Order: sequence, then structure tokens, then C-alpha cells
Amino acid sequence: MPALVLLGAQWGDEGKGKATDLLGGSVDYVVRYQGGNNAGHTVVVGDQKYALHLLPSGILSPGCTPVIGNGVVVDPSVLLSELSGLNERGVDTSKLLISGNAHIITPYNVTVDKVTERFLGKRKIGTTGRGIGPTYADKINRVGIRVQDLYDESILTQKVEAALDVKNQILTKLYNRRAIAVDQVVEELLGYADKLAPYVADTVLVLNRALEDDKVVLFEGGQGTLLDIDHGTYPFVTSSNPTAGGACTGAGVGPTKISRVIGILKAYTTRVGAGPFPTELFDEDGEALRRIGGERGVTTGRDRRCGWFDAVIARYATRVNGLTDFFLTKLDVLTGWEQIPVCVAYEIDGRRVEELPYSQTDFHHAKPVYEMLPGWSEDISKAKSFSDLPKNAQAYVKALEEMSGAPISAIGVGPGRDETIEINSFL
Ligand code: GDP
Ligand code: IMO
Ligand code: MG
Repeated sequence: MPALVLLGAQWGDEGKGKATDLLGGSVDYVVRYQGGNNAGHTVVVGDQKYALHLLPSGILSPGCTPVIGNGVVVDPSVLLSELSGLNERGVDTSKLLISGNAHIITPYNVTVDKVTERFLGKRKIGTTGRGIGPTYADKINRVGIRVQDLYDESILTQKVEAALDVKNQILTKLYNRRAIAVDQVVEELLGYADKLAPYVADTVLVLNRALEDDKVVLFEGGQGTLLDIDHGTYPFVTSSNPTAGGACTGAGVGPTKISRVIGILKAYTTRVGAGPFPTELFDEDGEALRRIGGERGVTTGRDRRCGWFDAVIARYATRVNGLTDFFLTKLDVLTGWEQIPVCVAYEIDGRRVEELPYSQTDFHHAKPVYEMLPGWSEDISKAKSFSDLPKNAQAYVKALEEMSGAPISAIGVGPGRDETIEINSFL
């Protein structure tokens, strides 16, 4: 029972942090495999609330080794302040491992992210402004800086020079900004080297050895399926692969090792930033979902756009990730609606469409076709088993399961670790 992948089935913020933390006590390693500090994962343990951006949520489980894989982009200053913030709260972070092949988010990548968004104006993506896209662009352009480069000053200087060569031309001539000095960047990056050194490791070797020894490894995705650079709503996406295949490339583990892929699925839908969203609500129902669900971004503090559940998206997530299970979160937020609309298909230019269209133009024109499901008014936050749920809540879950293409194996009825109904065990 070695490797599991846990990922977002919608546009992020599905409750991945809580789900990972829940399993953290029973797994040996929790690995982030893509993204960076654009993620915001909330974990509630007793009366303590943690917001994790770069660190895997398994860091809060004492027996678990947290790993930042090669596919992640690392902002060293954010990482160090996240670590010291946790240390101040009594969390032991000494087991953390960071891949020497992970790429570094440099200060100039953050600058480029911000100026590019400003330049795009109305066409902006609504990025988190954390330098994610430009850092992945440098990686693909082969001018990226990796964690291991911090330990060779001459190589680091050459690489920063190469990266800034073109960027300074763009910054000064196109964006009318000041050029960035190579020395300054090198000095800042070298300042992180000693502090990060205890954590840097050959994580590919460590993880594959662990799997050979039958240890349990959990891969925790950032973002969600529809923010995937290949399979999401491009160009309104992030610049990495949160989908299941990303776990293999982003951690250096072969697909034959992965036995379970769990999609975290919110009982309704949210999205942050720009881009199409067929079930988005602009009325008091949307406002109520935002208020009751606390739908405000953990990273940027932006209000999340809210809408009803979209089964077309859930089916798509099942397909592109090969999902074996769903973890349905935030069912409690839907308590109190007399009827709950669920999007079962789209209408696109007069045609009924059952599956997510590959054409961006079609998706922008998609109008939701709703089926109304009866709601419930009983408080479900104390429910411990499926049979504790009111009949209509059970029927809602069963209907979503049927439409979505994989079994719902757990249900979240509140933000806390123990506010979960387990139906099928994940381990
Ligand atoms: P992530 O990015 O996928 O980890 O999700 P976020 O942490 O950004 O957003 C999910 C929010 O929902 C957090 O505030 C969680 O504490 C909260 N949450 C997770 N599961 C549940 C649930 O089942 N019920 C309720 N009411 N809140 C939940
Ligand atoms: P978690 O892990 C929700 C969105 C941004 C923007 C787009 C690109 O908490 O689910 P980027 O800075 O990545 O280049 O921005 O992706 N985005 C997220 N939305 N949850 C996230 O992470 C996100 N990470 C990025 O809002 O639309
Ligand atoms: Mg989040």
C-alpha cells in the first residue's frame, strides 16, 4: 500500500490541507510535488489554525517526514519565515527535506510576475504575484536557479547573469523599470545557503528507497485540476501540473508506484483570479456561500468567486487524474438551502454537452444545465457516519457520486481534523 496522490479536483481551495493533515498521522512521508507559495492550505487542529503555503501539510504530524520535491518552486525567504513561524508555535520542522533540484523563486521573478500582470491590464490572469509563472518559465527556458546552485558561488553568479541578461532588457526597455543588479541577487541568495543546508537532500533517492521499504508516501497537490497548465482552463491557470501525473515528474517516482489517487472535491465550487466559471453566482446565494464557507483566499486575501457544484468538472477530474476516490468537503456549508442546484451538463450555443469541451471558446460560452436536489436544515457538523446524515444530505452525496465517476470515500462536515465522515478507508 505505498503511494497515494491527493489533489484538487476543481480550481483549488477544495480542502487539500485538511485532508492531507487527516492522513498525516498514518503516513511516513508527505510530499509537495508542484507549485510554490501560491498555495494556501488551511489546517485546523483543536483550537489552533495553521495556514501553510509552501510546506506540506504533513509537517503538523510528528511521525511524518515532509518533503519538498523537485517539481516545486521555492521562495527561500518565504520558506524560512514559514519554518520559524511554525517553530515559534512549537512545531518541530527538523525532518523537512528539500530537493536540490527544486527551482528557486528569485526576487526578479517576483518583480516580473507583478509587472507582467500590470502590463496585461484587462487581460491579466489574476496571479498571486508570488513569481510562480516566471520561475517555471525560467526552468523551461533553461535559465532557472536551483537549490543546489546556492552551494557553488561561481555557478550561481553565472546563472543569475544569464537570467538577468534578457530580463533587464525587458524590465528597462519594455516596462520602464530599473535594472536589477546581479551582485545584489547573488548576495541575497547566498545568504540563504547555510540556513537551508540542513534540509537539502536527494529526495528522489529517499522517496524511492522509502517505497521499496513499504513506507507510505502521500503526494499533496497544490492548486487544482482546472488550474493545471495542460489540462486546466488555459491561459487562466497556474504554471505547473497539479494533476496526478505531476506527482511522478515532480517527485521522481514512477507511475507504477501509485496505487490511489484521491480527488478533493468541494460540495460547491469556488475560484480565485480570472477565467471562465460556468456555475458562478452573482446573487445572494453566491454571497451566502462565500459568507458561510469563509471563502476568502488564504494567500492573497481575495474574495473567492462562488457557485454551485459542477458535475461536468468532477467527471473531467476523474478522467484526467484517474481518480480512485473523492473526498467531498464542506457539505456542512450547504445546510439550510431548501433546494440545491447541481450542474449536470452545459448548454453551448443551443447544444447540450455532457463533457468538458476542449475548446476554450466553447467553455467560455457554456451555460449550466441544473438539476434541483432537495436540501436539508439539520446541523450535520456532529455527524460521524453516513447514516447520521439527514436523508436529503445522503441523497445529495449519492447523486454527486453517481455523476462524478468515482466513489466518495470521505465527507467533510467542518474544518476540524475530526469533523470528517469516513466511508472507505484510504489506507
Ligand atoms: P486547500 O487550498 O485545498 O488546502 O483549501 P483552503 O485551506 O484554501 O480552503 C479550504 C477552507 O475550508 C479552509 O478554511 C478549511 O479550514 C475549510 N474546510 C476544509 N474542509 C471543510 C469542511 O468539510 N467543512 C468546512 N466548513 N470547512 C472546511
Ligand atoms: P491552493 O493550493 C486557488 C490561481 C491564481 C490565479 C492562477 C495563476 O490553495 O488550492 P499563479 O500565482 O499560480 O501564477 O496564479 O492560479 N491560484 C490558486 N487559486 N488556490 C490556489 O492554491 C491557487 N494557486 C494559484 O489565483 O488565478
Ligand atoms: Mg488554498
